[in-house]
Amino acid sequence: MNSNYEHILEPFTFKSGVELKNRVMLAPMTNYASDDETGEVTEEELAYYSKRTGGVGAIITACAYVTRDGKGFKGEIGSHQDNLVPSLQKLANTIQHRGTKAILQIFHGGRMCPPELLEDGIPISASAVAPEREGSVTPREMTEADIERVIEGFKESAKRALEAGFDGVEIHGANTYLLQQFFSPHSNRRKDKWGGDVYNRMNFIKEVIKEVRSVVENRPFVIGYRFSPEEIESPGITMEDTFKLIDFLKEQNLDYLHISVQDFWGGSIRNKEDKASRVLLAKERIGDKVPLIGVGSLHTPADVAKALEEVPLVALGRELIMEPQWIQKVEKGEEQTIRTTLSKKSQKELVIPDDLWNTIMNTPGWFPVEE
Ligand SMILES: Cc1cc2nc3c(=O)[nH]c(=O)nc-3n(C[C@H](O)[C@H](O)[C@H](O)COP(=O)(O)O)c2cc1C
Repeated sequence: MNSNYEHILEPFTFKSGVELKNRVMLAPMTNYASDDETGEVTEEELAYYSKRTGGVGAIITACAYVTRDGKGFKGEIGSHQDNLVPSLQKLANTIQHRGTKAILQIFHGGRMCPPELLEDGIPISASAVAPEREGSVTPREMTEADIERVIEGFKESAKRALEAGFDGVEIHGANTYLLQQFFSPHSNRRKDKWGGDVYNRMNFIKEVIKEVRSVVENRPFVIGYRFSPEEIESPGITMEDTFKLIDFLKEQNLDYLHISVQDFWGGSIRNKEDKASRVLLAKERIGDKVPLIGVGSLHTPADVAKALEEVPLVALGRELIMEPQWIQKVEKGEEQTIRTTLSKKSQKELVIPDDLWNTIMNTPGWFPVEE
């Protein structure tokens, strides 16, 4: 092994006592391969995870909906009913190979749920404000009962993850979905305790974390939180808002915070002139209080080693779709054979589910695809 990459392979222990055998995690990535009717994982999906486990310290799964009205993707993993525990168990067992830890990402899509995936065709959100994108629909504002039900959904999903043998959960508070919608001044215009100033807009997040924590008690079970630092809309989440959110999150006794950005070194999406890395700004604000997972366009071991000079852990997304054996190749000193592009002929070899493959192929520029 190249000695420059030794740090990548060093173990890391979370506050809860869960240990990762190295510093690299599979970023949560939707794969569209669960049973669309029931939310159960399929053989196609298990094969995809099986291909990518064993090397990385942890796999954070694709997002899993916590209540039926939170389903945001076709073929999304369900975690919303007790009868899904055996399905979740298969997923955890498949991932937990050669010491890789399994973390279930728990999620509600809110106003971003495509109406055709919902039983009554109407998405719900903090307020009745449509997202700014073509063809979007105006969601129904959540009632107090809806709010309680969805918070309970996060709690019950965490309970099911624990029962199924997962090592932890990641609460998905990023990428414009429901938790972010409560925090955002764009999607949250409420005047009650769930809305108003930036602190009131954290109340939903606060309750979700509290309820998830109540399930875990003192067990060695990871609770992580993912957030997006900014929104492009006006009004929308600014870095100033995010600093306040970080100040709150870092006091919640979480195992980690996970930022969601496209480029680890990238600047503001609100102001192109502001080139300071959002990851580094978040890191500076967090200090040493809680570990931050960095992410975004990291491909080679050199990229990862450089990022690890700034943060204790990194997640790789697209790269581990293109190169499932990334860690094993670093371990064996074969980093020169790590693939950083996707060959059009490689679907079978890389064990990529059909709908994920088709989405990648139909979204130009998303992956570095070669003939
Ligand atoms: C196919 C695909 C599906 C994704 N699905 C999710 C998801 O379910 N949850 C999530 O938090 N992020 C999701 N993301 C974002 C990734 O976790 C990651 O933040 C992003 O791809 C940037 O990292 P990368 O450059 O290493 O791919 C997805 C990304 C991709 C490429």
